[in-house]
Amino acid sequence: MTPNPIQTARLTLRSYSSEDIPELVRLASAREVAATTLRIPHPYTEQDAREFIAAYAAKTAPETRFAITRTSDSQLCGGIGFRTEDPHQHAELGYWLGVPYWGQGYATEAARAVIQYGFETLGLQRIYASLFTENAASARVLEKIGMRREGLMRAHIFKWGEFHDLECYGMLKTDPR
Ligand SMILES: CC(C)(COP(=O)(O)OP(=O)(O)OC[C@H]1O[C@@H](n2cnc3c(N)ncnc32)[C@H](O)[C@@H]1OP(=O)(O)O)[C@@H](O)C(=O)NCCC(=O)NCCS
Repeated sequence: MTPNPIQTARLTLRSYSSEDIPELVRLASAREVAATTLRIPHPYTEQDAREFIAAYAAKTAPETRFAITRTSDSQLCGGIGFRTEDPHQHAELGYWLGVPYWGQGYATEAARAVIQYGFETLGLQRIYASLFTENAASARVLEKIGMRREGLMRAHIFKWGEFHDLECYGMLKTDPR
């Protein structure tokens, strides 16, 4: 799905375009970004970026994805989006930021805005997120936006030669935000 842009205090969350490809490859190809995400290939190639953007332009991907850009200079900083499952009116939230943009509150600012978009514009009843136990920064982002820790799936993901526990966080439309 190609959404309308969302403005926050410092960020513009907008659809990707083919002009984002060089910066997307530069930022998403960092090992630190791939290490704690479930679906970013590593190494991340220009072909990966091209196919990712083409899928959303053609509306063949079921997910809603936003490029996270800094409004002041239009810099691409990362990505955020939902993977929805319509019958259940729920969606999985996912996000990443390029390493130079960590630690400035951007993920929290973007996640807060897309949560609101998910509940109010998409009409979702539940939004959840899954993260590796060791991803303390992401857990903190989810806590700051009001998500609750719901449980742990032990050794759920096999990545780069190791099994990882997966923490589950979630939020209902009726929960306080
Ligand atoms: C997780 C990620 C999105 C966080 O982005 P960010 O913009 O730096 O996040 P924010 O600045 O909004 O908030 C990070 C919070 O985590 C805290 N934090 C950062 N590193 C931490 C650590 N090692 N241990 C504990 N807390 C940590 C920060 O202090 C901040 O909390 P605070 O505001 O209470 O001080 C970013 O690190 C990233 O892209 N990582 C790689 C991809 C990824 O893991 N995506 C999420 C998959 S579930």
